Amino acid sequence: MKKTWWKEAVVYQIYARSFKDTSGDGIGDLNGVTEKLDYLQNMGIDIIWLCPMYKSPNVDNGYDVSDYRAIMDEMGTMEDFDRMLKEIHSRGMKLILDLVLNHTSDQHPWFHESKSSRDNPKRDWYVWRDKPTNWESIFGGPAWTFDPKTNQYYLHLYTKNQVDLNWENPEVRYELYDMIKWWIEKGVDGFRVDAINHLKKDYTDMPNPEGKNYVPAWEKMTNVEGLQDFLEEMRDEVFEKYDIVTVGEANSVKAHELSEWISEDEGKFDMIFHLEAHETWDTDKDADWNVGSLKEVLDRWQRSAHGIAWNSLYLENHDRPRTVSTWGDDQEFWQESATALACMYFLMQGTPFIYQGQEIGMTNVPFDDIKMFRDVETKNFYRYNRMHGVPHEELMETIKKISRDNARTPMQWNDRKNAGFSEGEPWISLNPNYKWLNVEAQEMDEQSILSFYKKMIFLRKSYKCLLYGETELAELDCPDVYAYTREFENQRIMVVSHLDSDECKWALRAKGQLLLSNYQHFEERKLQPFETRVYLLE
Ligand code: GLC
Repeated sequence: MKKTWWKEAVVYQIYARSFKDTSGDGIGDLNGVTEKLDYLQNMGIDIIWLCPMYKSPNVDNGYDVSDYRAIMDEMGTMEDFDRMLKEIHSRGMKLILDLVLNHTSDQHPWFHESKSSRDNPKRDWYVWRDKPTNWESIFGGPAWTFDPKTNQYYLHLYTKNQVDLNWENPEVRYELYDMIKWWIEKGVDGFRVDAINHLKKDYTDMPNPEGKNYVPAWEKMTNVEGLQDFLEEMRDEVFEKYDIVTVGEANSVKAHELSEWISEDEGKFDMIFHLEAHETWDTDKDADWNVGSLKEVLDRWQRSAHGIAWNSLYLENHDRPRTVSTWGDDQEFWQESATALACMYFLMQGTPFIYQGQEIGMTNVPFDDIKMFRDVETKNFYRYNRMHGVPHEELMETIKKISRDNARTPMQWNDRKNAGFSEGEPWISLNPNYKWLNVEAQEMDEQSILSFYKKMIFLRKSYKCLLYGETELAELDCPDVYAYTREFENQRIMVVSHLDSDECKWALRAKGQLLLSNYQHFEERKLQPFETRVYLLE
């Protein structure tokens, strides 16, 4: 297996809109990122993944780009970007951008041209049809919208303001490749590539026995035959020519399929984000989510990738609720469960990603009123389901659990005005727990979640076996214990995380030296609620 800089790195994901506002408009900005670089460097972060900061009307908070080569007004200017990049590099860190290639905003000049007439040269840059397929959009409602001026429908897998580009047209593809090269030449170090498995579509109807107006059509728009050809071309034309790192967001890809995606021989990306682990939890399974299913999925990915490919390791991102509130216990065992979950995923083989706020154990938001939510997916979900008669209370219960806004409330820096996020009125309400849950409080506390993350990052960098060692599942007879060993060149480390709120019998069967733990006092023969330990084995 090749050793590379990005395999040894720790990545921190910034949702800049909610990170740090310096202009006072209530929206985080690039100067805010620059201001907090010392914080990240001090934590041990090597790479920053910045969510979209391109010009955008922000229907989906930047995942609707109206100019790929400009900065959105709320976030600053290109000079701010250049300064941020320089400051990142001067600290020895790197920057990866979020590339949104499946769709543009309906405010992109390309789409203005495309919809201006049927014979416009850019008409074919998007997908137009006389008769739409019967697909539902991923964010609810129909996937096609009628344009009365030119009398045709255009395709949008997400909102009607996120218009799908026509990847079948080589002009579109090469224009995007040029844009990507432009950013690389500016100095960025890689990309997280958004919604990458939707580029190819199978334009046929879904079976519709109930005669609905539109139906979910995941298989017609995800990992469709021919997708890999597009990805291969992009790799050969762009990615492969530079020393950058690429991570594709690849829903529905299973461990046994990883070869064509990320293997050293034929992969199109260095890593992908799969959702399989997170799919072990959803609203219905909330009550009976179990560690066993998580172990089964993550272990399969560890084994399938070993020696041929490289995993991305993540718990949270801007699209998921906070894990301390879902898989953990954000009440009685807040600190313990945040750290046990951290150890569980962070020390496997792969490159770990931390999502802003995760390192201080930020929790889901207690918003009770639908008006407090800002996310377009959440709002559409509410609207379409109300239209179909689902009761308000039932919807609110689901929304509180799954809304993406759970992860999008402002970063909690201190206990002062707006948690130190902004001097102005924040674009989305703060989580009121910022009074006690914030960076400043944890920086001063040796036992805090933040201090634990720093120790974990330090450990990972101190032991080669935590980087390149093979992962082997251990302690198979303890259902709520996620334990594994890492082994490399005569070094063996064991990570044990008890992911439940009871106590369980457990004893280390080998001789080992304790490297890290989340309890100050512990007993040899049991694990306490959400206890985690890391041992160097003899
Ligand atoms: C990805 C992004 C998500 C966005 C969607 C559409 O899944 O992570 O935030 O809404 O793509 O671009």
